[in-house]
Amino acid sequence: MDSTTTIKDLQQMRDEGHLSDALLRAAVRSIEGSDERFDWVGVYLLGEEGLWLHNYVGEPTEHAKIPVGTGVCGRAVQERTNLNIPDVSAEENYLSCSPDVQSELVILIRAGEDIFGQIDIDSEEKAAFTEEDEVALIGIADKLAEQLAAERREGS
Ligand code: SME
Repeated sequence: MDSTTTIKDLQQMRDEGHLSDALLRAAVRSIEGSDERFDWVGVYLLGEEGLWLHNYVGEPTEHAKIPVGTGVCGRAVQERTNLNIPDVSAEENYLSCSPDVQSELVILIRAGEDIFGQIDIDSEEKAAFTEEDEVALIGIADKLAEQLAAERREGS
């Protein structure tokens, strides 16, 4: 995927004064529409009780809240790392949203040591996600983190 336009659009939203809520929704819609391999795209935010689903495009999921350490999403936070899972059926610590999902990519939304949440993408293709996708999505996650960090500093 190419994230150049998405990152530019998100920066423009920041320049116009939009808050993270609007940016997170715009990012999810833009990512989902950017590539046919992306069947479910969502953003989880990290709170005191773990991950909370902020918004998504795709089939409804029962995993609106995920404790740190649970599933691929919770493990990414616990290990403070992005996770590219080529075959979810091989994962022991996995929360299934749909039997059709074959692979999953989790990219943390972070600024230095601070983890704000993550972008989570499911695909119905095996090994759908490339290193190029990871780099592109890190660019989007970094832009979202800039806004979330600014709001945290403001205390809003
Ligand atoms: N599969 C994730 C749960 C979130 S759904 O994919 C929307 C996991 O194992 O944490």
